[in-house]
Amino acid sequence: MTSVRDITEHTKGIDVIFHTAGQVAVTASIREPLADFRANVIGTINVLEAARKEDSALLFCSTNKVYGDNVNEIAVRARETRYEFDDPDYKNGISESLSVDLCAHSPYGCSKLCADEYVQEYGRSYGLKAGVFRMSCIYGERQFGLEDQGWISWFAIATLTDRLLTIYGDGKQLRDVLYVGDLVEAFDRFVKSHLKCEVFNVGGGKTNTLSLVELLRILKDLTGQEPRIQYDEWRPHDQKVYVSDVSKAKKKIQWHPTTAPKDGISQLVKWTVANLRLFENARFQHRESLLSRTSPLHSRIGPSHPAANS
Ligand SMILES: NC(=O)c1ccc[n+]([C@@H]2O[C@H](COP(=O)([O-])OP(=O)(O)OC[C@H]3O[C@@H](n4cnc5c(N)ncnc54)[C@H](O)[C@@H]3O)[C@@H](O)[C@H]2O)c1
Repeated sequence: MTSVRDITEHTKGIDVIFHTAGQVAVTASIREPLADFRANVIGTINVLEAARKEDSALLFCSTNKVYGDNVNEIAVRARETRYEFDDPDYKNGISESLSVDLCAHSPYGCSKLCADEYVQEYGRSYGLKAGVFRMSCIYGERQFGLEDQGWISWFAIATLTDRLLTIYGDGKQLRDVLYVGDLVEAFDRFVKSHLKCEVFNVGGGKTNTLSLVELLRILKDLTGQEPRIQYDEWRPHDQKVYVSDVSKAKKKIQWHPTTAPKDGISQLVKWTVANLRLFENARFQHRESLLSRTSPLHSRIGPSHPAANS
């Protein structure tokens, strides 16, 4: 694995490090927890050490998975195509103040939370400019979604290549979805701000939400193709609703999402159509089969979407 020395060779004189690398699938973390720990925890501390040496700012891609099962304690109600929070305290979604204690329910949740805490600690102990972005579902062009990771992109790829999609549960699971261009704008605003060390929930927020069945309808409209689907059991610990409260980011870095899901998904579909050959080749299929491989522990959480990596 990459060492601190390897990383510092590339970070000399660098002002800002965007730490996006990591093991990204819940399923893979259950299958290989040590590899998940090495990539997400040791990998992050190596990057932090490199940042400390150069006094670089560091922005870290954390995840809403750090709140784990605490989200499932919030009451929800079912509507025709989606679930919604049924508790006035969460009418704007989940804020940064939700507890991260006793909640992870996957090695991925643990390793990302550990890395998230380390980034904050380097901000406090060493005065690093450190931004922790607890991201909800990010989507956009150049995304290689798989069943285990990147559900919006995966649904688009599967629809366009006529692969069979599995819906775990009834498909009314609701997520806030964020177009990648909006995420980059949030990064940029933090970098340009005078803030030192902050944690932000970043997602589409309550105005940019989507359920699985709603995405299927959008894809049918955009592609003219009917997604092929089958249903399977709910995955244990899947969140019926996850919506980020983005008001802290609005207040502190004057940021809010600007891309409506239909517009962002249209961009994603156009890019996927123009690059279909990438999803038919052996390399993509190899990655797909590696991430979807089952193990005795796999059934604890099961294969993914939409909660798998976000
Ligand atoms: N896409 C989302 O919706 C989402 C949501 C929440 C959090 N995140 C986080 O955002 C980051 C980027 O995710 P993504 O969706 O672009 O996934 P991705 O799989 O496209 O990108 C992850 C990258 O990390 C690299 N990587 C893995 N292990 C590494 C190691 N040990 N050393 C160096 N590189 C390594 C992989 O090669 C890959 O290029 C991840 O940290 C992920 O946990 C993503």
